[in-house]
Amino acid sequence: MRKQIVAGNWKMHTSLQEGSALATSINKMVKNEVENKETGVVIAPPHTHLSVVNQLINTERICLAAQNCASEAKGAFTGEVSAKMLSTFGVKAVILGHSERRAYYGETNETLMKKVNLVIENNMKPIFCCGEKLEEREAGNYFDVVKEQIENVVFNLSKEDFEKVIIAYEPVWAIGTGKTASSDQAQEMHAYIRKLIVEKFGNDIADNTTILYGGSCKPSNAVELFSKPDVDGGLIGGASLKAEDFIGIINSFN
Ligand code: PGA
Repeated sequence: MRKQIVAGNWKMHTSLQEGSALATSINKMVKNEVENKETGVVIAPPHTHLSVVNQLINTERICLAAQNCASEAKGAFTGEVSAKMLSTFGVKAVILGHSERRAYYGETNETLMKKVNLVIENNMKPIFCCGEKLEEREAGNYFDVVKEQIENVVFNLSKEDFEKVIIAYEPVWAIGTGKTASSDQAQEMHAYIRKLIVEKFGNDIADNTTILYGGSCKPSNAVELFSKPDVDGGLIGGASLKAEDFIGIINSFN
């Protein structure tokens, strides 16, 4: 059966000192409050904090993730950080295709395909984000938008490699806006994504694929969202910056 996961995306927040304090608090609270739970815990600090945070957490219980990686393996790409470099910091997963990266850094399916392949080649898991913008939701073509994003990237993988992928459905209109998708809207899209996976890779793989919801998820709405059969956890932005809220979300599974 698929794993339930709560992943914190810190985005471009926290100084090294603040990030270290946050990681230390999360580590302590995970040990005291959720040690025996099955839920997977992932944190994605900024690149600059990874190596320090890796030393501060119990890496058996908390998975260290990065928020992005370069689309090339190595070479003259000033300012970029390769998938291989990340793997040497103890990174086990990489968030790819976040809507902020698609919108502000022009990430296309083509670049994302390269990044997904590099992450897998370096024995890490892609956390692949998809989701429609407000105007696409309002125009009623949100299923097609998400289908296109998934089909043109992660569906190009072999079955074996697709099994390493975690999907995160993040409606762009819900990210950082305080406007959460209703649990029915989330369930509807998650069920649709799972149906696409059934058609492409079969029932077993679809049953085992973790599909996270992201977009203004917080302790007060996580219980309702996570009660839905196809919502396997969350990718959390703002609320992952407070250890109590993040732990509250992890504790929201029944
Ligand atoms: P948010 O961000 O929880 O602050 O809405 C979610 C995300 O962007 O992953």
